[in-house]
Amino acid sequence: MTKPNDRHVPVLLKEAIDFLNVRAGGTYVDCTLGLAGHAEGILRLLGPKGHLIGFDRDPEALELARARLAGVSSELDSQAPQVTLIGEAFSSIASHVKPASVDGLLADFGVSSLQFDEAHRGFSFQADGPLDMRMDTRSGQTAEQVVNEANERELADLIYEYGEERRSRRIARAIVRGRPVTTTGELARIVASAAPAMKQERIHPATRTFQALRIYVNRELDEIKALLEAAPKLLKPSARLVVISFHSLEDRIAKDSLREGAQKGIWEILTRKPVTAGEEETDRNPRSRSAKLRAAEKL
Ligand SMILES: C[S@@+](CC[C@H](N)C(=O)[O-])C[C@H]1O[C@@H](n2cnc3c(N)ncnc32)[C@H](O)[C@@H]1O
Repeated sequence: MTKPNDRHVPVLLKEAIDFLNVRAGGTYVDCTLGLAGHAEGILRLLGPKGHLIGFDRDPEALELARARLAGVSSELDSQAPQVTLIGEAFSSIASHVKPASVDGLLADFGVSSLQFDEAHRGFSFQADGPLDMRMDTRSGQTAEQVVNEANERELADLIYEYGEERRSRRIARAIVRGRPVTTTGELARIVASAAPAMKQERIHPATRTFQALRIYVNRELDEIKALLEAAPKLLKPSARLVVISFHSLEDRIAKDSLREGAQKGIWEILTRKPVTAGEEETDRNPRSRSAKLRAAEKL
């Protein structure tokens, strides 16, 4: 059987570590630990005076990351850096991390393969499960509540805005007629019959609706905006920011925020165009196909 940690292959690992410019003795923050693939890469370079601070608001992911990093630390023994793990949303970063104390900050947005592959988390239409979709399973509205409680107009708007789905009105109408909708399978069938796949379309017809609900349930875009706003205050001069996004809504926020910061003299942008995965990586790890990495240095 595959252990969860083996299933997740970190995206653009070498590029992320290189752009972070990880140096022994430094303080680095991984805002999205997931299964700690990137975090392990950073940890191995920090040395005994270094400090890794990690965030994940998913309690299950945090515990898996903790176990993986503890294993690496015991292997590194007296050379192991300090590790601090925080089970909260990264938008709260400024209440946990001191101003001008960080040498590098990484955020690898979106859902982890652990979340996506476990049917009971409700992120995937490929396996039938309860419509949950919360990263932080301790609080907040589930996708089931949204789908069954929002009115048709609200549903259509959120599917359009966060899924960039042109057929959102038709889909919202079908969802409202099909209520109550309680599983990912039911929702996928409703969406697929209301808006069947168009010719030449390679993705499942429910992909955009699921993306929209996930972003809405987890307030993902607000989280990213809050993090990018807080980041400059937390970084030392010459420290690095590296963000990896997986769809255009995330990438646009990162691009605009860095550009605006560069105009104000906060950042020097290190990636004029976003860095993407090479053929070897996309063959090995299909998830890397949509990844875009942007990096900047604090001035
Ligand atoms: C794509 S995965 C990260 C994978 C990780 N880089 C690795 O190598 O395994 C994203 C992780 O970030 C977490 N996450 C997403 N948004 C978050 C937020 N706003 N605050 C804290 N954690 C978040 C998710 O729960 C998920 O575990």
